[in-house]
Amino acid sequence: MTSASLRFGLVGTGYWAHMAHAPALASTDGIELAAVWGRDPRAAAALAAEYRATPHEDIETMLAAVDGVAFAVPPDVQAPIAAAAARAGKHLMLEKPIATTDAGADELAAAVAEAQVASVVFFILRFRAEIRAWLADVTARGGWTGALSSWFGSSLLDSSPFNTPWRRDKGALWDLAPHIIALLWAALGPVTSVTADAGPADVSHLILHHLGGPSSTVTVSQNGGEAAAGFEAYLWSDAGRSVVPRLPDDPLPPLRTALAELAGNIRSGRTGHPGDVGFGRDVGHVVAEAQRQILARRPG
Ligand SMILES: NC(=O)c1ccc[n+]([C@@H]2O[C@H](COP(=O)([O-])OP(=O)(O)OC[C@H]3O[C@@H](n4cnc5c(N)ncnc54)[C@H](OP(=O)(O)O)[C@@H]3O)[C@@H](O)[C@H]2O)c1
Repeated sequence: MTSASLRFGLVGTGYWAHMAHAPALASTDGIELAAVWGRDPRAAAALAAEYRATPHEDIETMLAAVDGVAFAVPPDVQAPIAAAAARAGKHLMLEKPIATTDAGADELAAAVAEAQVASVVFFILRFRAEIRAWLADVTARGGWTGALSSWFGSSLLDSSPFNTPWRRDKGALWDLAPHIIALLWAALGPVTSVTADAGPADVSHLILHHLGGPSSTVTVSQNGGEAAAGFEAYLWSDAGRSVVPRLPDDPLPPLRTALAELAGNIRSGRTGHPGDVGFGRDVGHVVAEAQRQILARRPG
């Protein structure tokens, strides 16, 4: 930490704040974890004490004391707080999905654009070094016909620390599909349409069309059981397949990369980033349309 460090406040005091955002903020060059806010003041005080940060009971007071804000709260809690932070001129390290409604995502993206603050959304696959190298290779080669992908998680098991109310409510469609859409968007081009249906065990199936012609499929579930858990994805063409590297086993290196890129943009006055709030909004619109179709197909 130097006198020139950017001061960040953390919103949220749950498992993900403890195991990812707080340690990443505290260990990224040029960033200081200066403040913590949570709805439970005792949890905020305990997390802040671990990092010699200042706990805040009032979010406005925290916003006044920082340059940027990182989020580890449910998406529809994040969206209005992040919009208020942007209006207060604070830069944003956001979580995916940025909201679970088109209106929430649009309002946040508009607030960020109007305030001209920098933003990055932590689509974790896009910040893993091995996946970035793979993306650079497959986009340089081009010519892909499409992709197949599946991600079966186990977050809805009783024993999982990720078994949180918003995830139980929104499922893998909102939790896991944004990660894969963000990846396939970069690999195959912008998504121009989605067709979606659901199956048992929190399964959502998405068919995506990408600008210029490629198509891809995404199947996600957070409740298929531990024995079936796993992530698989590959691009294909008549020349063969290219398999996406495995998922990150430690969120800290990719999160530090995201934070370092956000800090770099803040210092140089840039607001645009390939994974900024506008991209988060666009990914969210695809998921929201998939959600509408799944609800419309549901019997009775
Ligand atoms: N990028 C990734 O790879 C990745 C991985 C995991 C999670 N995430 C994202 O991180 C976010 C949080 O994840 P999570 O669900 O697993 O949560 P979590 O870590 O359990 O944390 C939830 C936090 O939000 C707080 N909270 C819940 N409802 C609230 C409300 N109405 N007002 C204020 N605070 C509230 C909780 O407070 P209490 O403790 O008082 O309940 C807790 O501090 C989600 O957006 C998720 O998508 C991203």
